[in-house]
Amino acid sequence: MSKPRKPIVAANWKMFKTPSETADFFKTFLPVLGNMDGVDVVIAPPFPCLPAASEHAGKSIVRIAAQNMHPESSGAFTGEVSAIMLRELYVTYVIVGHSERRTLFGETDAFINRKVLTAHASNLKPILCIGETLEERDGGLVKEVLSRQLAAGLAGVSADDAIETVLAYEPVWAIGTGRTATSAQAQEAHAFIRSELEKMYDAPTARRMRIQYGGSVKPNNAAELSAQPDVDGFLVGGASLESGSFFEIIRAAVQASVEG
Ligand code: PGA
Repeated sequence: MSKPRKPIVAANWKMFKTPSETADFFKTFLPVLGNMDGVDVVIAPPFPCLPAASEHAGKSIVRIAAQNMHPESSGAFTGEVSAIMLRELYVTYVIVGHSERRTLFGETDAFINRKVLTAHASNLKPILCIGETLEERDGGLVKEVLSRQLAAGLAGVSADDAIETVLAYEPVWAIGTGRTATSAQAQEAHAFIRSELEKMYDAPTARRMRIQYGGSVKPNNAAELSAQPDVDGFLVGGASLESGSFFEIIRAAVQASVEG
């Protein structure tokens, strides 16, 4: 039996790689990826690398994501970019609410929600990141934090748009730390998120929504995490910078999806 949802594996390059390094990555990655199917593959490079990424992705299965955007379409917002600018660069997805944006740049749930709504209105698919800090986990607040971030992040989002929204559960304590959630911890959080989505929408909608896991995903832990029934792919930071390790993670997600 195969899994009910197509896995989606996304690379979050953060502030790594120049445009020429982006081109080099695609030149090695695309031949390795070959004509892999049964998975959506997404790469989110830094803004200046988007043209190179779009050009190289061409007709391959790779879709391009931005790592952030502003909710307004234009205006006096020095340093920001808008959805229409991204659309013109053939961007398909946009990461919103990453914990680094929340903690380092002070983004609130309400501001993140505006981005989610703008993304949908602009034909971009948001990858909405949620997840608890270590302090919140130790304080027994995981469910409370996830419910709050989900309710606020998806406020005003219709069921049709919710299906086009990708969620990324990223426990903050696992990001870039080499400390991955155990597969049981990931499954517990993902199942809880799906149950919340069912309450917010309905069972068929919740069943169709994809929930990625993120936080120190590597080739050596991707298979076990992928085997969890509610893990529908990954948002990968460090291990996505190298084409070989990113490919291994994609392969693990495809394998688990076929095996169900
Ligand atoms: P990591 O980052 O894989 O390097 O932990 C994940 C993320 O921040 O999306």
